[in-house]
Amino acid sequence: MNQGETEMAEKIPSPDAGRGKILLMVGGGIAAVKIPELIRRLRDAGFELQIILTKAGRQFVTPLSLSSLAGQKIYENLFSLTDEAEMGHIRLSRESDLILVAPATADMMAKMAVGLADDLASTCLLAANKPIALAPSMNSQMWLHPATQANLATLRGRGVAVIAPGSGDLACGEVGVGRMAEVPDIVAFCQTILAGGDKPLRGKRALVTSGPTVEKIDPVRFISNRSSGKQGHAIAAALVAAGAEVTLVTGPVALPPPPGAIVIPIESAAEMLAACEAVLQRSAIDIGVYVAAVSDWRVAEIFSAKIKKEKSAGGTVVPPQLRLEETPDILAHVGQHRQRPHLLIGFAAETENLIANAAAKRTRKNCDWIVANQVGGAGDAVDDRVGGVFGRDHNQIHLVKASGHDAWPVMSKTAVAARLVAEIVRFFRG
Ligand code: C5P
Repeated sequence: MNQGETEMAEKIPSPDAGRGKILLMVGGGIAAVKIPELIRRLRDAGFELQIILTKAGRQFVTPLSLSSLAGQKIYENLFSLTDEAEMGHIRLSRESDLILVAPATADMMAKMAVGLADDLASTCLLAANKPIALAPSMNSQMWLHPATQANLATLRGRGVAVIAPGSGDLACGEVGVGRMAEVPDIVAFCQTILAGGDKPLRGKRALVTSGPTVEKIDPVRFISNRSSGKQGHAIAAALVAAGAEVTLVTGPVALPPPPGAIVIPIESAAEMLAACEAVLQRSAIDIGVYVAAVSDWRVAEIFSAKIKKEKSAGGTVVPPQLRLEETPDILAHVGQHRQRPHLLIGFAAETENLIANAAAKRTRKNCDWIVANQVGGAGDAVDDRVGGVFGRDHNQIHLVKASGHDAWPVMSKTAVAARLVAEIVRFFRG
């Protein structure tokens, strides 16, 4: 994939004034070595930082390196006479807009779950009245242990946000889940949380399509597209989290429905079109995000019984002749609709000429933005996570607008969704 472009046309929207203070708590895990890079990226994105380094975190990074990058003093000691003269643990937790724990160790999560307060970080967490986000990092057995999972459920139940760890090589030499989320994913997550109020899209209505469509040939066979629905469902979930009222029209996928969204399951492109039409007729839609991999073709006539293998007089099997016809282009239809969503976003999976094809698609389908990603093709696999987009957890996209295009770094599909929603929030703020 276009390495030069990934190298970053990275433009991250700045947080609004007064909503950009992060209290970063650095825990004791090998992923702490990524924290200097995280500090740089958070500062590039316009966040102000205060940093607490735990005793265990100090084993992996030095206070001097963190303070040089942050341009701030590093807090370490609950019983510091100078800091505690001003009730430092209360002040630190009050002065921030978000508390970010990265890496969040199993021990730290366990302490949070039971409410221990035996060092500066845990005391600030207990005293906190601000949103808290955790970026866990640990060995997969520790992550999957019922104790850790129970603590996680407790913390989630209290509204703590969890930036899910990824899978891959772990520092201990094992392979599995437990790698701290990548730095751009953590930055995107913070941007969404701080995008301006907890629910910046409250009062907005969104319609999202996701997954493949399934076009029947006969009762047992069909034409479809490769699509897991992961990206579309993540966008629906991120829109719900931002306060939008979301209707998700989805083809068959093996994913749970995003909590809080109204889900309309469909199979064929015709059913997807009818569902979208009904939603548009019912109420004005502010945001349309068309992520579904709609099949371009269907058979002109569906066979009512299973097509049998028939042999000719010569004994050879005669394959059936299927006459195909085009399916309706739902996005193009919505682009011309009397009730066109105020902001209309399409997707484009391209194997070549990514930007040119996406830009042409934007105009042809009358969308505002196209989210483009390259699929297949030689030279695609710059990063092994990008080698295939279908069904994977990561994506690399270019956001194509009338004014130009931006290349985003490789991100999890959840982080792509969070960042797209941050862009949507900025669009509506004007
Ligand atoms: O398949 P194509 O590259 O044209 O898809 C581009 C965009 O159009 C995607 O957002 C997809 O969801 C949408 N689309 C659609 N109905 C179709 C084909 C594509 O809504 N029949």
